[in-house]
Amino acid sequence: MIDNFALGPKAAFAGYGLEHVKTTPSTNQLAFEYIAKMANDETASSDSKTGIWFVADQQTKGRGRLGRTWLSKEGNLTTSLLLVLPKQSKSLQVLSFVAAIALGDAIDEILDEESKNNLKLKWPNDLLFFGGKLAGILIEAQMLGDGRYAIIIGFGVNIKSAPEGIAYPVSAICQSGANVTEQSLFVALCDSWHQKFSLWNYGRGSKEVLTQWRNRAFGIGKPINVNQSGKILNGVFYDIDDTGRLVLLQENNKTIYVSAGDVNFETGMNS
Ligand code: BTN
Repeated sequence: MIDNFALGPKAAFAGYGLEHVKTTPSTNQLAFEYIAKMANDETASSDSKTGIWFVADQQTKGRGRLGRTWLSKEGNLTTSLLLVLPKQSKSLQVLSFVAAIALGDAIDEILDEESKNNLKLKWPNDLLFFGGKLAGILIEAQMLGDGRYAIIIGFGVNIKSAPEGIAYPVSAICQSGANVTEQSLFVALCDSWHQKFSLWNYGRGSKEVLTQWRNRAFGIGKPINVNQSGKILNGVFYDIDDTGRLVLLQENNKTIYVSAGDVNFETGMNS
């Protein structure tokens, strides 16, 4: 079993960097602090790296989507990737789907066939396992002084435990009986990220990324409601469009394109 954090061979060869800490409030925050350091210190730069992975044994103030908190105990994976992308980069919203399919493939590597079939992607970028939320992804961005974009992609995966007292079903990889550590999942994740990021290819491969996401999506064709800060939209989850927006078909045959919100399925599997 791997018990030290290291990059996978593909990520190492591709020139990614790795910063490992024992504890931090948030690995996304750690990446933001690194950006601030880059801005103030000419000797510090991420330019020599393809991207930098920040990983912590323990997060004390993890952040979730839509201002929520991400609870995670030791033994789970909390990691963030810092990327600096060129000015006027296009199709950045698809990175959220790149991240979800990369994490899905990484987890596949350690699951048996039955468990794999129960790993699904929930719009926009959650992972569900046997119907409970297994993992969440938080993407944050900042424009740098020179016009480039710093993108931070945070992954939280329940491996050894799922948080208690959550209002929706949750799950953890250990339920499958798979023998996995956060270190071994990290190796698989940074390698599969490299593969899917290459597939995306600065937007040229967005269509294929979204096809892969769709192939593993939970709930296409099902009745859903989307909660947008209290405003509820009802309809059928028809598809995602070619920018990743959720296409909601309403009873009056009106089509709504949803860019953000929380999806709830009438049949369960909510988060
Ligand atoms: C969600 O709400 O589903 C997204 C959760 C993202 C959690 C991860 S854990 C690593 C990284 N650091 C954070 O503070 N959040 C993300």
